[in-house]
Amino acid sequence: MMATIRRGALALVALSSVLALAAVRGAAATKKPLVPAMFVFGDSLVDVGNNNHLARCNVSCRADRRPYGLDYPCHSPTGRFSNGYNLADLLAQQLGFAESPPPFLYLSNAGDIRRMSTAGINFASGGSGLLPTTGNNKVCGEAIPMSEQVGNFTSLVRRPAGSGGRAADDDLIAKSLVFISVGSNDLFEYADHLITEANVSSPTIRNDTAFLQGLIASYTSNVKELHAAGARRFSVLSPSLVGCCPLQRKVAKDYGDVDRLGCLGTANNLSRQLYPMIAAMLQGLSQELPGMSYSLGDAVGMAGWVFGNANFTTLDHACCGGGDFGAGLCNSSVTPCQDRSGYFFWDRFHPTEAASAITARALFGGGTERFVSPVNVKQLVAARP
Ligand SMILES: *[C@@H]1O[C@H](CO)[C@@H](O)[C@H](O)[C@H]1NC(C)=O
Ligand SMILES: *[C@@H]1O[C@H](CO)[C@@H](O)[C@H](O)[C@H]1NC(C)=O
Ligand SMILES: *[C@@H]1O[C@H](CO)[C@@H](O)[C@H](O)[C@H]1NC(C)=O
Ligand SMILES: *[C@@H]1O[C@H](CO)[C@@H](O)[C@H](O)[C@H]1NC(C)=O
Ligand SMILES: *[C@@H]1O[C@H](CO)[C@@H](O)[C@H](O)[C@H]1NC(C)=O
Ligand SMILES: *[C@@H]1O[C@H](CO)[C@@H](O)[C@H](O)[C@H]1NC(C)=O
Ligand SMILES: *[C@@H]1O[C@H](CO)[C@@H](O)[C@H](O)[C@H]1NC(C)=O
Repeated sequence: MMATIRRGALALVALSSVLALAAVRGAAATKKPLVPAMFVFGDSLVDVGNNNHLARCNVSCRADRRPYGLDYPCHSPTGRFSNGYNLADLLAQQLGFAESPPPFLYLSNAGDIRRMSTAGINFASGGSGLLPTTGNNKVCGEAIPMSEQVGNFTSLVRRPAGSGGRAADDDLIAKSLVFISVGSNDLFEYADHLITEANVSSPTIRNDTAFLQGLIASYTSNVKELHAAGARRFSVLSPSLVGCCPLQRKVAKDYGDVDRLGCLGTANNLSRQLYPMIAAMLQGLSQELPGMSYSLGDAVGMAGWVFGNANFTTLDHACCGGGDFGAGLCNSSVTPCQDRSGYFFWDRFHPTEAASAITARALFGGGTERFVSPVNVKQLVAARP
């Protein structure tokens, strides 16, 4: 009898704590996001699982194995190139969503495109870039280039009523946030050519300015196409100091091209040259395209600041990966570091959740506003579209 009562009492306590938790979750969930939806484009900094659906995409550009996702709520890999949430999730959370909108290829497989109008869609693909060749064949086997991500978005938006219904109305698209993080992989691949060819007897002559202008031409046409499909509010993150990720640090050491940050000088110089070109492109487009507004995050400036000021214990070595700088592959044979919030890099290319959280806060407007212009994302979405 006693035992039964005790069990009953325990069950009651358990139930009331579940209800209390549900109330807390309910309160969080009823807080309306600042935009109706979010559409995400770009590379592995923001991919939430699209690459898992590409048949020819190999292990270099997939995050579908342990220990990826170790600190994600379900503690298992989802396709995010992070120990936990990635930048798309963390910016979505700043806007009031639970995490990033779902991956496009997951939705189309499930035939659930209507989700577009409730949270948005994430089109990003790890390894991809502004150039159609980036990530494709040589590095990943297969990745979805930026132009194709944009094409997939516009064909959904433009789909006429009757063929399964329009996915979303113009007003929703105009009020939503388009978030783009792309260009790093184009720089990686180009820098890789420059470095490895510097050691051959007759290197191909390359023109960095012409290459970077080609990236801007591609970027421009993508933004124009998004605008033509109804997008108005753009949050853009420039490529970071790509020479500082653990694999590039190792290349820098092997080839003797180490800059004052201990990173690959050739690659970092490309990032530094590209940023003002992106800034000028967006300023020009916002004058040309009716109703367009934007917030540009300077990832080069942010990285320089973080490397000098943030409290990470480890800036040069990946949490998950073997060998010099932890630049080896991150997979289940590797034991990741214990102190994930003390490391800037999760694997040889990607930041930890802790590092991405700093970027998300900076983009939204939580402290380091000086790296966002002309407005931060909070101001961007508060202004009338
Ligand atoms: C991925 O695929 C590309 C193209 O087929 C290949 O060159 C590369 O070596 C592959 N990488 C791995 C790790 O399998
Ligand atoms: C995305 O666009 C590409 C290129 O137009 C097309 O081949 C592909 O089928 C589209 N993906 C989906 C799932 O509609
Ligand atoms: C490099 O390309 C730019 C832009 O296309 C051009 O103005 C410049 O003359 C080129 N430089 C060389 C050395 O060919
Ligand atoms: C490239 O050449 C430099 C200078 O000759 C040499 O020191 C370096 O070891 C070479 N690097 C590789 C990876 O072959
Ligand atoms: C990078 O740029 C700096 C400043 O312009 C220059 O001194 C340095 O030689 C460049 N490094 C490489 C590897 O191109
Ligand atoms: C780093 O830690 C110190 C001491 O706890 C603190 O004063 C400082 O604000 C921290 N810096 C950042 C960028 O969080
Ligand atoms: C992890 O990667 C290393 C290096 O590429 C490889 O030798 C090892 O077999 C991989 N382990 C698993 C479980 O795939």
